[in-house]
Amino acid sequence: MDEAFETALVTFDSETGIGTITMNRPDALNALNGQLRDDIIAGLQRLEAENEDADGVALRAVVLEGAGDKAFCAGADVGGFSDDSAGGSGDRSHYEVIKDFPTPVIAKIDGYCLGGGLETALACDLRLASDDSAFGFPEVNLGLLPGAGGVQYVSKLAGPAVAKELAMTGEHISAERAAEEGIVNRVYPAPEFEDEVDEFVTELAGQAPLAVQAIKESAQMAVQTGLEEGIRHDRELFSRLLATEDHEEGAAAFGEDREPEFDGR
Ligand code: COA
Repeated sequence: MDEAFETALVTFDSETGIGTITMNRPDALNALNGQLRDDIIAGLQRLEAENEDADGVALRAVVLEGAGDKAFCAGADVGGFSDDSAGGSGDRSHYEVIKDFPTPVIAKIDGYCLGGGLETALACDLRLASDDSAFGFPEVNLGLLPGAGGVQYVSKLAGPAVAKELAMTGEHISAERAAEEGIVNRVYPAPEFEDEVDEFVTELAGQAPLAVQAIKESAQMAVQTGLEEGIRHDRELFSRLLATEDHEEGAAAFGEDREPEFDGR
C-alpha cells in the first residue's frame, strides 16, 4: 500500500508488517505545520486500518522519517506558531497519537532533529539515528520553551540537568552525545544507516506483536505518573510565552535573519 497525503507519504509492506510515514516537506526541513501534524495522524490511522481485516495483527511496526537528506524535522514551522504547535487544547495532537499508538513507532533520524521534531521523536517508542544527526531545543531563541513535553521527556531519559542544558542554551548536540544521555537508542554510521535500520525494524516487526504491544503499554504506565501534569503545565507556560514581546522579537529576528534583542517582556 502506498498513499500520498499532502505533506506525508505512507507505505505498508504486507510481507514484513512494517508501515512507514515520511514527513514530506524537505524544502522546509520537514517543519511541522498544521497540515503535516494532521497528515501524521491520518497516516497512523491509515496504517492501523491494516489490522481491521487481518487475521491477527498485520501492522507490526511503524517507521517515522523525514524526506530529503538534511532533516528528520526542524521543529514547528516558525512561519505559524500557535497553541496547536504544542499539541493545542482541542483534538489529540500527533504527539499524543504517536505516544498512545498501540504499535511501536520508531523515529528514523538522519539530520536535524530539533524542537517539535525532537519532541515528535521523543513521543516515539525508539529513536535510531545516523551519526551526522543533530539534536536540540531551539525554542528559547524564539522566547519559547518546548511546548509538547520535551523538557519532561528528556528529564526522564537523561535527567533534568541535560534537559535544562538543551532547552536553556538552544545548542545542538551530536547523535553520539544524545545516545550517551539515553535520548537516542542506537547510532549508526551514515553509510550503513539505511541497512542497519531496516535490519533492526525487521527484527522488531518479527517479534510477537501482542507482547510488543503489551510491553509498550507497560512502559507507558512506568513513566505516566507525573509526566502528564508536567506536560499540561508546559502548555500553560507555552501559551503565556506566546503572548510575550520576546517571542514576537525572536520570530521577527528569525524572519529578518538577524540576532534577536530580548527585553524580558
Ligand atoms: N520552520 C519553517 N521553515 C524552516 C524551519 C522551521 N522550523 N527550519 C528551517 N526552515 C526552512 C528555512 O527557512 C529554509 O527555507 P528557504 O530555503 O526557503 O530559505 C530551509 O528550511 C532550509 O533551512 P536553512 O536555515 O537554510 O538551512 P541551514 O542548513 O542553514 O540551517 C537549521 C538548518 C535547522 C539549523 C536552521 O534551519 C534552523 O535553525 N531552523 C529553525 C529551527 C527552529 O528554530 N525550530 C524550532 C522552532 S520551535
